[in-house]
Amino acid sequence: MTAAKQDDELDFRRHPRTDFTPVGKVSKRQAQREIEALRDGIAFHDHKYYVDNAPVISDRLYDELFHRLQEFEAAFPKLHDPNSPTMRVGGEPVEGLAKIRHTAPMLSLHAALERAEVEDFLDFVRRETGERKPELVAEPKFDGLSLEVVYEHGSLVRAATRGDGHTGEDVTRNARTIRSLPLRLAASDHAPDFLAVRGEVILHSRAFQAINRRRIERGEEPFANPRNATAGMMRRLDPKAVAEARLDITFYDVLDIGDTAIVTQWNALEMMHDWGLKTDPHADLVSDRREVREYHQALERERENLDYEIDGIVLKLNDCAARERLGTRHRSPRWALAWKFPPRQQVTTLQDIVVQVGMTGMLTPVALLKPVDVGGVTVSRATLHNEDEVRRKDVWPGCRVRVQRAGDVIPEIVGRVDGSRSPPDKPFELPRYCPACGTKTVHEGAYVLCPAGLACAPQLVGHLQHYASREAMNIDGVGEKTARKLVGAGLVEDVADLYALDRDTVKQLEGFGATSATNLVKQIRASLEPELDRFLFALGIRHVGQRVAQQLAQHFECLEAVEQASLDGIEAVPDIGPEIARSVHAFFHAKENRRTLDKLHDHGVAPRRVRRRRGRQPLAGQTFVFTGTLGNWTRDEAEARAEALGARTTSSVSAKTGYVVAGTDPGSKLDEARSRGVTILDEHDFAKLLKREET
Ligand code: IVH
Repeated sequence: MTAAKQDDELDFRRHPRTDFTPVGKVSKRQAQREIEALRDGIAFHDHKYYVDNAPVISDRLYDELFHRLQEFEAAFPKLHDPNSPTMRVGGEPVEGLAKIRHTAPMLSLHAALERAEVEDFLDFVRRETGERKPELVAEPKFDGLSLEVVYEHGSLVRAATRGDGHTGEDVTRNARTIRSLPLRLAASDHAPDFLAVRGEVILHSRAFQAINRRRIERGEEPFANPRNATAGMMRRLDPKAVAEARLDITFYDVLDIGDTAIVTQWNALEMMHDWGLKTDPHADLVSDRREVREYHQALERERENLDYEIDGIVLKLNDCAARERLGTRHRSPRWALAWKFPPRQQVTTLQDIVVQVGMTGMLTPVALLKPVDVGGVTVSRATLHNEDEVRRKDVWPGCRVRVQRAGDVIPEIVGRVDGSRSPPDKPFELPRYCPACGTKTVHEGAYVLCPAGLACAPQLVGHLQHYASREAMNIDGVGEKTARKLVGAGLVEDVADLYALDRDTVKQLEGFGATSATNLVKQIRASLEPELDRFLFALGIRHVGQRVAQQLAQHFECLEAVEQASLDGIEAVPDIGPEIARSVHAFFHAKENRRTLDKLHDHGVAPRRVRRRRGRQPLAGQTFVFTGTLGNWTRDEAEARAEALGARTTSSVSAKTGYVVAGTDPGSKLDEARSRGVTILDEHDFAKLLKREET
């Protein structure tokens, strides 16, 4: 055989042949060459498919190559390579995370800290169910990242973060790297056609430490705790890095299982277990105060031995029919309760009190602490809120303090411990001049403010961060660090300047490369047509939170109307009182704000007009793309049905596309959707979705 022919045979990029010699008849040397060639070829086709979006071979041929590689790897374990495509490496980086609407809302839990509250809950459940000893399932409350995972016909199709409870981010590619997450359900012939489950992605202590070690080696900031690390890893755009993180997942809720009925929570846990979904062995049935208390106590003791974080227990009414009757509060079910463990505390030295300036110009005293480990997290600073608080806590540089950490809460100082060095002669006072910009400060009640607004760098940084935040314009990538760099480099003087940034300018900033600069600019541009309420919220108008922003948007329908509204006009909006009205009115009449708004407009930022709500809009915020011919509808009809439920329809697939509905003879949009990991529905799925949402 000539060398040229041999090379051709082993070139799975351009000549992917499948007339293989049986694995058993291949010499080790030859196997090694073929394995290498296969790995090379498959990686090449992965790249073509997922990155270039232009596959050059059929899925079937790809599968044959993949299978061949698996066979080889099984036959020659010594040739194992952790970077083989058969390992769950996740492939090339993605550009961004698409938004996904959850099958069912992902609720949160009402949390209790006191035993009395838990007993009230038990009384309530007893009263409502009419049972003397209603059965409850007690589970650990995992401290990780909540994930919705969907299986269709037994295969994993998507995974999404919780997001705002209705819409999360598509992290399917990252989820696939979690080795405990089955890509197919066990006994999948018995699995339901459709299954949406909820679990918690967690990091074991060793994996957490390993991640931080690697970060420190690379000169990156270590994660503060396993929960942050989990969230940070799951949202990374490079699944390879995620695969390295060795995340784990444990399941605790069936969100949707099509038409099948779930009788009890216990049953749900058992079923999930049978399908190969990991559940936690600590779950138990309890039915009275004593049992609940004992479970809480036992688990709190056990907590110290676990190699993953839990921050309390969760109690759930077992009987699902009874749950239905109890129903749901605003965002949390009435049939469940979290009972948190008491916060962990430590004693350390307060080394100094420094002053920080926030987005609103408020000066905040912050305690710098001698770093101390509080239940696995290093604490080195704690807020002291204001001058009064410093006096009340009676702390000073050099004294010993007790600090505590309670779940999500930023570490706080509980108080001073006796035996501290003597107090200083002068009590703590906030400075008369802003420590950031030197402007004379003003007093407002217990607070001290710097009135310089956006001319004061930390206020501008705070504004940018708020503007870009998930609840506001949802611009990924403008966090505190980036905002600081932009302000520090003099590139941005108000939020409108974000839109003047281009790749080459951003690239000059420390820590940015061509790709990250392109991504940032893309993200910013993607926010050109925000929903009006998000935009109003993003402006950071005093007293305008998300709810007030929504009221304003619903009432005025377009930005111009809000801008031109009179004071009385604003006060006429439901739930808006004189103080808020004055703040909104003043905001739109202040010269510098007018300038920023004009600049935003000139850069093409155009908040979308609110369409008056007709009925429910469960698909609001979702973008649909149709491709191919549908059997029962014309394209127009199908689009109209989706739009009537609030969806947007567009003609091409982009990062914003939530669903692609594919009929027969679909076009290239389907490939585009596949490569972006967009949810693909056939006509039947689409009909089911309409049925579900229209009722
Ligand atoms: S059940 C409707 N069970 O705690 C109830 N949640 O706000 C839905 N969590 O974000 C949640 N352990 O991610 C449930 N055993 C458990 C849990 C659990 C942790 C998380 C969940 C949620 C948060 C509560």
